[in-house]
Amino acid sequence: MPTNTLPVLAAQYGPLRLLTLNRADKLNAFTPEMLAALESALDEAAADDSTRIVAITGSGSKAFAAGNDIERLAALDGVAAYRDMLAGQRALLRLHEYAKPTIAMVNGYALGGGFELALACDFLVASENASFAFPEITLNTMPGWGGTQLAVARLGLACAKRFVLSGRRFSARECEPFGFIHDVVAPGDLLDAVHALATTLAAFDPFAVEMAKRALNRASELPLSAGLDLEAAHYAVNFSSEGARAGLRQFMDRRLARRTARTDTVPTSP
Ligand code: COA
Repeated sequence: MPTNTLPVLAAQYGPLRLLTLNRADKLNAFTPEMLAALESALDEAAADDSTRIVAITGSGSKAFAAGNDIERLAALDGVAAYRDMLAGQRALLRLHEYAKPTIAMVNGYALGGGFELALACDFLVASENASFAFPEITLNTMPGWGGTQLAVARLGLACAKRFVLSGRRFSARECEPFGFIHDVVAPGDLLDAVHALATTLAAFDPFAVEMAKRALNRASELPLSAGLDLEAAHYAVNFSSEGARAGLRQFMDRRLARRTARTDTVPTSP
């Protein structure tokens, strides 16, 4: 099969693996094949040590993803729709719990499942032409891939209600005060901005990043005391890793070198 007909494309930029939802003629609306391909691509990137960061974007210039495929959805009965939602939730949970940092590179419409997918990533970098909505209510339905759950953790309840209950589409600039967007850039600068963020993140020890992310993800799920216990346990596990020892040692070595340089330059008293 020629590469450009695959439902998800993969490209490597140094430590960054860029996955592209590839259905531009339908604004990258999700199909089960696309979800399965996304999960496989995530598995492959997880197993590749040279990939430190995974970003997801949409093909074409209009959309990140316009949500679940409405034509297909309309033909489902209740049981099939339930199973469809579970499949979507599984993919999004995979992304949310992914050990490596993830970036949603939002290059246009992020609607319904597209918005949910973007919110399941750790960082969201948007182009100026990006927009975000949960339009399901306008179809007399509701979000089913975490839009009433994970979105609440990312947006806060009031903001999530604003999106879910109004169905209104907000531009990237309008969304900036809501706090879920890392950066908004010109469309032509989007890949560079994502690459720069990935380069910054890739400089850190992968195990420290993984432990910190796991602890952060539990924050909205646990009572404070249980969350703090879990944080201390993750801290201890990471503390015993070679990366943490090396990081602390390097800091001490730099300090020592600075102190030595300072004493060497102090003029000797007559
Ligand atoms: N499911 C299936 N097909 C979709 C789709 C979706 N969620 N979103 C867009 N498409 C298709 C359109 O049917 C159209 O295909 P066609 O040319 O074969 O008819 C193509 O993508 C382009 O979309 P179009 O509507 O012509 O583009 P537009 O710029 O006029 O409008 C949107 C863009 C995003 C505003 C509009 O497509 C839309 O409202 N889509 C549905 C979004 C939604 O409700 N998502 C939640 C789903 S649960």
